[in-house]
Amino acid sequence: MLCSSASVSVPPLSILFLFLIFPFFLLQVQATVPPSKTFKYVNQGEFGQELRLGGPTKVVSRVSSVDGSQGPYSLVLEQNRVALYLKSNNSPKPLLYYYDELGSGQDPLAYVKFNSEPETEEAYAFDLEFDYAMINSSSVSRRIWARPKYNATYSMLRVESDGNLKIYTYSDKVDWGAWEVTFTLFDRDGSMSECKLPTRCGSLGVCEDDQCVACPTPLGLTWWSKNCAPPALPPCKSRANVTNYYKIVGVEHFLNEYTEGDGPMKLAECRDKCNKDCGCLGFFYREESSKCLMAPELGTLTKVSNTSHIAFIKLSK
Ligand SMILES: *[C@@H]1O[C@H](CO)[C@@H](O)[C@H](O)[C@H]1NC(C)=O
Ligand SMILES: *[C@@H]1O[C@H](CO)[C@@H](O)[C@H](O)[C@H]1NC(C)=O
Ligand SMILES: *[C@@H]1O[C@H](CO)[C@@H](O)[C@H](O)[C@H]1NC(C)=O
Ligand SMILES: *[C@@H]1O[C@H](CO)[C@@H](O)[C@H](O)[C@H]1NC(C)=O
Repeated sequence: MLCSSASVSVPPLSILFLFLIFPFFLLQVQATVPPSKTFKYVNQGEFGQELRLGGPTKVVSRVSSVDGSQGPYSLVLEQNRVALYLKSNNSPKPLLYYYDELGSGQDPLAYVKFNSEPETEEAYAFDLEFDYAMINSSSVSRRIWARPKYNATYSMLRVESDGNLKIYTYSDKVDWGAWEVTFTLFDRDGSMSECKLPTRCGSLGVCEDDQCVACPTPLGLTWWSKNCAPPALPPCKSRANVTNYYKIVGVEHFLNEYTEGDGPMKLAECRDKCNKDCGCLGFFYREESSKCLMAPELGTLTKVSNTSHIAFIKLSK
């Protein structure tokens, strides 16, 4: 009945092809990634068979999706945990921005293995998990990250080039859109806020509720944009006697997730420490505990309601 109406104008075939058939065709092409082959490769940033003492103990991110060389982020197997680090040119030690404790803390971990397995015999759901065991122990424990309700055998864990941790799952039962992100560590719905991702706001920004809301400048807070950056500093040698700072009240650094910093010490001492350290781009001071945290990278600053948590960003006089 609908088709008999003469007033319905049919678009030319070429337009139909462009909007309906061509995108479908493109998706078809993308879906032909041979999964079994894909999963044989361990690309940079992708979690291979396992992390094991005496074997590979870390996964390093790529620089970007087109540059496969080693990026600054890594997932590392440690004594009793897996941890995410950011390598900084301003610090001899990599910067810890996430960890997940595994095991009892008594014996060291022997291995951590990324695994996908059906939850029950009926296989209604699959667990995407870390299987891990302690040295000299035969019992295997699990840490579940995600639980897709379809066959998630073809899954991989990747340290993204932005430092996030994601699981991708390939479903071989569908013709298009077969790849899906089944887990994201730093996520607005996840356990870790995006504000805890070191470069969520690029090289500088104040983050609140997963959004970059302000750019701290020497003149105060302004709207955030991708151009928000710390002030340019003179070369190291001539820096010590020309440093000044500007202040931001009610923020925390991503390193504050796991440490308050050193101290207690006076604000002037903390400032002096940063003055003398060429790799220090600013410091974070807590008035109530007098703890002092030096920041070799600034990046994302998380907004907090506590006004006794203050950031001081270095600039040249
Ligand atoms: C594991 O067992 C071996 C052999 O029994 C022993 O030499 C070693 O100290 C044990 N390691 C740990 C961490 O308990
Ligand atoms: C899940 O998919 C894999 C790969 O296609 C297959 O080998 C396996 O038997 C499937 N598992 C279940 C429980 O259907
Ligand atoms: C900084 O100190 C050095 C050595 O003390 C001196 O040579 C230089 O002129 C000073 N720079 C400024 C801008 O005061
Ligand atoms: C700020 O945080 C400290 C502990 O970190 C707490 O003792 C203090 O009461 C807080 N102040 C406000 C205004 O919430």
